[in-house]
Amino acid sequence: YEELTLRPQLLKQYIGQHKAKENLAIFIEAAKMRNEALDHVLLYGPPGLGKTTMAQIIANEMGVQFKSTSGPAIERSGDLAAILSSLEVGDVLFIDEIHRLPRAVEEILYPAMEDFCLDIVIGSGPGARSVQLDLPPFTLVGATTRAGLLTAPLRDRFGVLSRLEFYEIRDLCAIVERTAEIFETPIDKKAALEIARRSRGTPRIANRLLKRVRDISQVKGEQEISLSTAQHALKMLQVDDEGLDQIDHKLLLAMIEGFQGGPVGLDTIAASIGEESQTIEDVYEPFLLQQGFIQRTPRGRVVTPKAYAHFNLEVPRT
Ligand code: ADE
Repeated sequence: YEELTLRPQLLKQYIGQHKAKENLAIFIEAAKMRNEALDHVLLYGPPGLGKTTMAQIIANEMGVQFKSTSGPAIERSGDLAAILSSLEVGDVLFIDEIHRLPRAVEEILYPAMEDFCLDIVIGSGPGARSVQLDLPPFTLVGATTRAGLLTAPLRDRFGVLSRLEFYEIRDLCAIVERTAEIFETPIDKKAALEIARRSRGTPRIANRLLKRVRDISQVKGEQEISLSTAQHALKMLQVDDEGLDQIDHKLLLAMIEGFQGGPVGLDTIAASIGEESQTIEDVYEPFLLQQGFIQRTPRGRVVTPKAYAHFNLEVPRT
């Protein structure tokens, strides 16, 4: 299955995230030398940067099973208890969107993480009993967009906190070339660089754009994806020269035209463009902030002169 083989299986195949990789490589090696389970790992950062891939790689590198679930999928404590009691020594349990675990479920996780102990209550009312089950040592790998979304007690139980960053263009370019090779589609280096440049620092976006560019190149009957086809395709996909899409445009223009460039609150922006606040905050804002199109101030978000320049607009003088 294409999607699965796109994901690198080992740290040495994983492109970019040099700091996170370097640290994890050491912690993994040390845990293996001591024949122990790796300490619990929290991976955080914007969507599409490879948190799930990294969790799978951790399991592969440790030579253990990978079990995967997500915060919103676990509704009751019993659901989590069932998963925990199926773990074997050293296994990696991956919980995506771990900040969305219900509170009662999260409380089961504390003793499980700390003492490899499962506390369960059987029955209810005066007849309720609590029983403790031992769990094998395991590694919880949690993923979330921002570490600050976790409650302090949960965050404190992770031994390794690893922040994934937006990728450098040269790393994205290497990812595009690697993916094209897996697709057995030749690509001009300049075309790969063009896709990389416009992928908002995000491999998931780079690979998605590559697929669409490949479609167009194929229909044109090209032997190799050319720069001009890449440019044409990206224009069709409404991805601009800086990688900004229609929603970024809507957001920035709403701030400029509706709120004189701000400061304006997140919820106000969200309402004015009809997107969820959470989606703006987790998906759109991080890249716009990192690229300096917007800034956060105590009174709300403001657009920068760079954003005005991007739309060939003059910065209003006040
Ligand atoms: N495909 C998607 N992300 C990747 C990465 N970081 N390294 C290698 N291939 C990838």
